[in-house]
Amino acid sequence: MSRSIRDLDLQGKRVFIRVDFNVPINSEGKVADDTRVRAAIPTLQLAREKGARLILASHLGRPKGAPESKYSLRPVIPVLAELLGTDVHFTDDCIGDAAKQAATALQPGEVLLLENLRFHKGEEKNEPEFTKALAELADVYVNDAFGTAHRAHASTAGIADLVTEKGAGLLMEKELQYLGKALHHPDQPFVAILGGAKVSDKIEVIENLLKTANTMLIGGAMAYTFLKARGLDVGKSLVEADKLGLARELEAKAAEKGVRLLLPTDHVVGDLSRPEVEPQTVAADATPADLAGYDIGPETLAAYREALSTAKTVIWNGPMGIFENPLYAKGTMGVAEAVAACEGTTIIGGGDSVAAINQAGLAEKVSHVSTGGGASLEFLAGLILPGVAALE
Ligand code: 3PG
Repeated sequence: MSRSIRDLDLQGKRVFIRVDFNVPINSEGKVADDTRVRAAIPTLQLAREKGARLILASHLGRPKGAPESKYSLRPVIPVLAELLGTDVHFTDDCIGDAAKQAATALQPGEVLLLENLRFHKGEEKNEPEFTKALAELADVYVNDAFGTAHRAHASTAGIADLVTEKGAGLLMEKELQYLGKALHHPDQPFVAILGGAKVSDKIEVIENLLKTANTMLIGGAMAYTFLKARGLDVGKSLVEADKLGLARELEAKAAEKGVRLLLPTDHVVGDLSRPEVEPQTVAADATPADLAGYDIGPETLAAYREALSTAKTVIWNGPMGIFENPLYAKGTMGVAEAVAACEGTTIIGGGDSVAAINQAGLAEKVSHVSTGGGASLEFLAGLILPGVAALE
């Protein structure tokens, strides 16, 4: 286990805190969703209370190793200043003289935000020279960027070897605690809900969760690959033709391990390319040849609700259908309600399911909403995250 920021002496120290401020920026150049900034606040306030001089570093988007104004972290400054209730200093380059001077000038409790780390190629390449330049800014390294912990970059991995004092931030700890408990010793019954477009995106997650889950609920377009593999005609629904064998293998594994793997027994079908076609609910074995499934149906939802009603641990990753379209949102919204109503520990594992629980207005009702998309998927797949390993 890594050390916690709670155990580090930060009084008067310059503390480099890797945060994940990879937030969406709207057409007016403003932060469109501040969830990730909010999620970092407890760590930042604790560091300030401990008398640290805070140097915050993050990436935003995927610039190609050079400055690009649309990927600037500048729009985060007012959001952060408001949430922290203090001024935020900023430098246009995350390394170099200006960054050094700004870091040196910081007083205890003051906050400096560095410009996008990915404006330098050295960040993603974890180049020694760039890593050293970052490490020189600080005495202590704290990683609170769970969302980026699956990347072995200079600021998430390399830097940890160059700074003697290091530890995990409160968000990082919370994410690892919730996801780790669910993965390794969940209270049972443990129900995993997996959705999204492709089974190929979730193979490792399904295999890993089959080790501890009691029930697995499958939804989203990925369900059609499973149904097709069972020999059902799924009309024009999205199917990964090359993954039918894999779907059969996963079903066999579930049976072998005694995991109840539920597939939709009905779905809502339509044709997105022909808006005049009214959505209709059909049994899973009665999909019209010219239509595609876009949501789970009411019978499936009732069965999934039933499975969730007694769960002591729930992990949900991936929507049940194309919930962005109100015509096909009922299944995903219904699952969101069932997860929110569940009395056990409920975890939303990042990405689209976070958007779905927010759309349902129920994020407050779940135990933990992960800030990691790719990171939570890799963690749930049982992979070691470089950003976590580097702290140990
Ligand atoms: C994310 O949004 O998943 C993280 O911030 C990581 O971003 P990346 O996929 O560009 O590395």
